This record gives sequence, structure tokens and C-alpha cells, in this order.
Amino acid sequence: MSVATPAPPPPLENTATGVIGEYTLPASWWTSDKVFEFEKRSIFARSWLYTSHTSRFQKAGDYFAYNFLGWNFFLIKSTNGNIKAFHNVCRHRAYPVIRKERGSSIILGCKYHGWSYGTDGKLRKAPQFDNVQGFNREDNSLFEIKTHVTKQGLIFVNFDNTEDSVPFETFFKGLETELSEFDFGDYEYHMSYELDGKFNWKTLMDGYQECYHCPTAHPGLNAAFKMETYKVVPKGNYCRHYCRIAEHEIAVQDAKEADPDTESSWFGFGRKKQQNSEPVKVVKKENPGGSFDGLWCYLFPTNGINCYSPAWYSIRVLPITANRTILQYDIFTKKGIEEEKKKEFVDFLQQVEIEDYDLCVLTQKNLREGIYSSGCLHPTKERGVLHYQGLVRDMVKKHFEAEQKAGKEINPATVGGAEPKEVQELEALCAKIEGKGEAGKECLEW
Ligand code: FES
Ligand SMILES: [Fe+2]
Repeated sequence: MSVATPAPPPPLENTATGVIGEYTLPASWWTSDKVFEFEKRSIFARSWLYTSHTSRFQKAGDYFAYNFLGWNFFLIKSTNGNIKAFHNVCRHRAYPVIRKERGSSIILGCKYHGWSYGTDGKLRKAPQFDNVQGFNREDNSLFEIKTHVTKQGLIFVNFDNTEDSVPFETFFKGLETELSEFDFGDYEYHMSYELDGKFNWKTLMDGYQECYHCPTAHPGLNAAFKMETYKVVPKGNYCRHYCRIAEHEIAVQDAKEADPDTESSWFGFGRKKQQNSEPVKVVKKENPGGSFDGLWCYLFPTNGINCYSPAWYSIRVLPITANRTILQYDIFTKKGIEEEKKKEFVDFLQQVEIEDYDLCVLTQKNLREGIYSSGCLHPTKERGVLHYQGLVRDMVKKHFEAEQKAGKEINPATVGGAEPKEVQELEALCAKIEGKGEAGKECLEW
């Protein structure tokens, strides 16, 4: 299949004429544990989250297990060929049905009491329950999670179990068409890696959503792309990032010649100790970014799909606490390219990612100190930051109002609700003991 190369960047804007007036959200939103818990219910339980690509599932029964915000779930290729997602929670007494990160089986047996499920999530066997009067296997399927697989094979899940859940086509309107500019079928899985950082998920997204920092913080990326053409275009819940690639061959400083002490670093602490010495040796090398302008999409809230000619990669950002975030990268390389080229791309990517990682660690430290609260954003260069922070603000505010109105905590990801009346009553009692009762009024007061 041949597809057109991704669209070039839209025309440049005059960045000299913007008007100041927009500020970041306050730093407390990056450090508060309560806000973090609230984001789980208001943002993550309501959004479509990129998870994996269909090419990773070869045959029926192939599965991958994940943990997102503590929610254990897995994707599995069912015997009818569809990819399905289930909570990794046995319907009997909640033991995890799958205990490996990945594997393959068309029957999933729970190791606690031996209940077993098919790839469609239906309960197949429940030892010794068959003769129990009133027991219904149909009522005990695994809890299914909504999935959407795009034409390109990208798999998304959505934990929202309420009537208000937003369909994929509405949440990411236009994304699927836009992704058709890249031939995902011509790429195969290469490798994954993970970074574990002491920063809030939004600290990473702040950097991800602009390239204003690229000339100072990413020398390699800066050499491979024409940064003055970088543009972030918000499209609802996703943003397309555009930039023109530099020449096929780029000039980079010879790694052997590079000495951090001779460089002016982005901290501004660098020293130029060789002011009058030999000029730094520069070598020419093939552009690791490939041969065409990329197709890069930020997917609200925490994911990204980034396509270059030698490879594409996904980023899944897993918020762990208000001050800890795990970043997971899956890299897919063009079929048939040499190992050397794959390595070059991975080195290029990892260099950029570690530069961002370091920015986040030190930024988060300062956000926690209570000195800084908010800063002004550039009206065009940081438009992407403004846009996604606006989505965060709106979703949090909307959910806050809904909880206030309902007088109780609302977690859209909660499953069940069909429990017997007594279970529901005891659940309500627990909420009161916990202080999550009707508008706080019916909480137990001692
Ligand atoms: S918890 Fe799975 S069989 Fe009992
Ligand atoms: Fe960056």
C-alpha cells in the first residue's frame, strides 16, 4: 500500500505580534495528592487512552497486561480475531486472572479457586458451582472495557462505564483520517523501554506540547529539524505537531570532540574555556529523523504517536502519584531497514527523551517548593500548552460541579452496580464512614 507522505507544516505565523495574557495553571495542581486523585476520576476515567498496536497480537489468545492508575487490565486477541480489553479481576473474589505481563492462552484460568474464562471474557467453568441453585454463569463474565481499534491498528481503551461516555469518533474527531497519511502497515515492532521519573504527568506534557524549548534543550533534534517551522495545531482532544525536516545530511558535532565544559549549557552555567582554541570539529551524517516531515500527534491526556520515516513510536505516560510518572515507549521500525539505522533512530529518540526527562525532574523540584505559582505562556509558541491545560482545567471543573451536585464521589470507571440490595446498602454505609457521603452532610460525625 502506498500512502502520501505526511502533510507539511501550515504557513508560519508572525510570532512577534502576540499579546500576553495567558498563564499556566497554578503549581499546586502539579503537586497536590488530592488533585491527582481527582484527575483520575475527572480526566483519566473519561478519556480514550492509547494502549498498543494490533501487530503485537499474532494469534488468538495473545494477551498483554497493563496497569494504569492502579487499574489492572489486559488486552487479548479473541478467537473471532477482535482485540478485547478486560479488567484483570476475577468475578469470583477479585484475584487477578492474568499474572504475567504477556502470554498466550485461549482459556484464562484463575489460580485462586479455578474459575476459567474464554477470550470473550465469558465464564466457562466455576468448579462445584454448577449444582448451586440460582448460580448463573452468564452473570459472571469478566468486566469488559470499551475499546476502539483504528484503521491503522492503534488500540485505545476507555474506562468510562457511565451513560455519558464519549465515543472515540467524538473524542478524537478527525484523528483517524489524519493518521492515514502514514503507512503503519510498513512497520514492525522493534523494542520498548521505560523511564521512571519524579515528576507529575503534566510536567512532561508541558514540555511535550511545545518546541519553544527545543533550540536550547535538544541540540540533536534542533539539527535534524527546522525549528523555526515548528507548529502545534490543537484539534480538540489531540494536537498535531508540524515541523520541516532539515536536509537529508546534517552537520553534527563530532561526539569525540564534545566536551560539556566547553559548552554553554541550558542552565546558563556552562563555561567557554576554549574561547580562542581550534574550531570544534563537525561531521556530516545522515539525518536520523529520516527523509520526510514527521506526523506527530499528542493525544490528550497522556499519549503520543510520533511517525518518522525510519520508525514510529508511541508514548504512554502512566501517572503513578502527583510526583511520580512512568513513561513507556514502544518503537516500530520500517520493515527491512538495516540494524544500524534502527540503532541510530533509537539513539536519536532516547537522547531527546532523556533531555526532556532531565528538564522535568528539576522543574518539578521547584514546583514543589511553594515559591512559584504560575508563569506566562507565549501566545503562539506555547499554544499547545495552553490548549491542553485548558482541557485539564475544564474537565476537572466540570467533574467537581457534578460531584458537588450529586453530593458524592463519582468514579466513571467503577464497574458493577448490579449487586444485591444489601451489598449496595453496605457500600453506602462505607462511603459515609469514609466521609464521602451525601454532600458531606451524612458523613459520620463523632
Ligand atoms: S478469585 Fe478467581 S476463582 Fe476465586
Ligand atoms: Fe523536549
